[in-house]
Amino acid sequence: MTLAAPEAKPSPYNHQTVLWVKHWTDRLFSFAISRPPTLRFRSGEFIMIGLALEPKPILRAYSIASPGFADEIEFLSIKVPDGPLTSHLLHIKPGDEVLMGKKPTGTLVLDALKGGKRLFLISTGTGLAPFLSVARDPETYERFEQVIVVHTVREVAELAYRDLFEKDIFDDELVGEQARKQLVYYPTVTREPFERMGRITDRATSGDLFKDLGIDRDRFDPAEDRAMICGSMAMIKDVAALLESHGLVEGANSEPGDFVIERAFVG
Ligand code: A2P
Repeated sequence: MTLAAPEAKPSPYNHQTVLWVKHWTDRLFSFAISRPPTLRFRSGEFIMIGLALEPKPILRAYSIASPGFADEIEFLSIKVPDGPLTSHLLHIKPGDEVLMGKKPTGTLVLDALKGGKRLFLISTGTGLAPFLSVARDPETYERFEQVIVVHTVREVAELAYRDLFEKDIFDDELVGEQARKQLVYYPTVTREPFERMGRITDRATSGDLFKDLGIDRDRFDPAEDRAMICGSMAMIKDVAALLESHGLVEGANSEPGDFVIERAFVG
């Protein structure tokens, strides 16, 4: 009697190659991996990313920082010294293998928002990642007249992608022209001197945010403003409460609303 060879089980992960790595600070780095031909995702979604460590692979949720049509898949990560994943991931080099899940998902997508005039993309730290995707997608500029990328960090060096939002995006083949007319970059720093200081919650509550943007009111307006929020839990809670107190309603994929939230994932 001959036994049939056991069928090889398909891997639950995509096995992808690291293309580049960029270290911003001792707390923050970006990297890109090859795109599996089968992967489809909407700008703003997240996916599981990890390494084939022993005794078992470790994966964590990461927002995809590239727009939905990009050739390479980019991520922004923190470095946690004892983090089960990031303490290893921070050592990756071009050519290394990274594991990626097969099912992207998430709420920070245009589909979860009602139409509006102005889109606020509000983030702290690595919470900027999904907005790197949304702000590089032409559809965002078709849906909204103005797109405001808000990034609050502790130190100036943590303003990752500042060059992208201050100049490179304006030369982007796909969104450059729209970005020049419609994109506003609004970085704020909380723990060292900077041209614009303070938490976004404080700047919105004081009315400075609106004054800086040339908007003639001191609060969010549910008739015009839409928002996506991503970052620390505390920031999300505070910004969501502020938006709700101004009459904006949280949305979801199943029921689009005025704002959507997602915590930034920690490795
Ligand atoms: P702060 O320096 O005043 O704490 P972290 O690195 O801890 O994730 O924080 C990133 C940024 O988010 C920091 O600039 C921090 O400001 C800011 N932040 C933290 N909590 C809140 C909050 N509840 N609302 C708004 N911003 C916050």
